[in-house]
Amino acid sequence: MRHIKKTFILLLTLAFLLSAVAYVFETTTFSQTWLNKIMNRIHYKVIKSTSADRTENDLLAPLSNQYIQPRGTTIHHYVAHPSNYHFILDEPDKCKQDPFLVLMVPVAPHQLEARNAIRSTWGTESSVQGKAVLTLFLVGLTGGAEAQHQLEEESRQHRDLLQSNFVDSYFNLTIKTMVIMDWLATRCPQAAYAMKIDSDMYINLENLMTLLLSPNTPRQNYITGHLMRNEVVVRNINSKWYVAEELYPEPKYPTYLLGMAYVFSSDLPKKLVEASKKVKPFNIEDAYVGACLKQLGVAPSSPPDSSQFKAYMGQYKREDFLRVITTILSSPQQLIDIWKDLKGPI
Ligand SMILES: *[C@@H]1O[C@H](CO)[C@@H](O)[C@H](O)[C@H]1NC(C)=O
Repeated sequence: MRHIKKTFILLLTLAFLLSAVAYVFETTTFSQTWLNKIMNRIHYKVIKSTSADRTENDLLAPLSNQYIQPRGTTIHHYVAHPSNYHFILDEPDKCKQDPFLVLMVPVAPHQLEARNAIRSTWGTESSVQGKAVLTLFLVGLTGGAEAQHQLEEESRQHRDLLQSNFVDSYFNLTIKTMVIMDWLATRCPQAAYAMKIDSDMYINLENLMTLLLSPNTPRQNYITGHLMRNEVVVRNINSKWYVAEELYPEPKYPTYLLGMAYVFSSDLPKKLVEASKKVKPFNIEDAYVGACLKQLGVAPSSPPDSSQFKAYMGQYKREDFLRVITTILSSPQQLIDIWKDLKGPI
């Protein structure tokens, strides 16, 4: 009897509290539109694909054909699995040269200056310590016909452009990375290693090759770079690294490699593409690769000298650049200047 009484009083108090909260919400500065705005941004809806042309891959992959769509007026489809895309510009014969290492550079279509800086610096190094190296750029869709025309012209001239049919944007970098993996898996499985490297990077290919040719470097299930451990998922909706809980519920990411540059054995692209069917896509490309690696049971390796994968170097010092494998630069011009200084007479 006493028990029932207690429960009754508790329920009464709860009802009172709830109506008080509702009252405060209606009368304070929390206007309806403001609330709506927040709800639109934080609430993602996962809806099933209605696409008629489902491939066998899609049927095998319940997660890959889900659209993740923020509620509101702008609709963002988010489908990271590369089987949803195809190449508009391709270089299927590039790997007939049997490269040992393939450098894959994700870049926006309009970043011609960055591509040209690479083409006149590290992109020219086709043989390092007797091993063939290949550099290719990957872009998504351009904004219009004129830009597309220019890109095709550039492709005819340089034969180093790959283009896939997804909308090229910062939000879509995970798609770009997975399309890179798909290209490597299907067009270049014979390479020994590949690297995903951003277009604003310096790379010392001599040092990278020394690492890859070391007898201690595994030929399979190997991936290394700048390790990110215990990274907390950003839940601030105003951040460019924001990820909704609906996309990635855990508070921390698994250990991953910072997206600026990571190098991996060539068995991994195929395995990553497979694994990604079981890992719900989210918009942080490097952490997503980390999640796929976890799914595969592959642990990222620490490089023998972790200071060789340096995010920022500070002021330019020649000896630092001779020692690192890779680091972030501030502009395409800086890459050209540094290259001149490094390759010129001392
Ligand atoms: C990402 O790419 C998909 C596929 O092309 C596109 O539908 C979507 O609008 C893009 N999202 C953003 C935010 O650019």
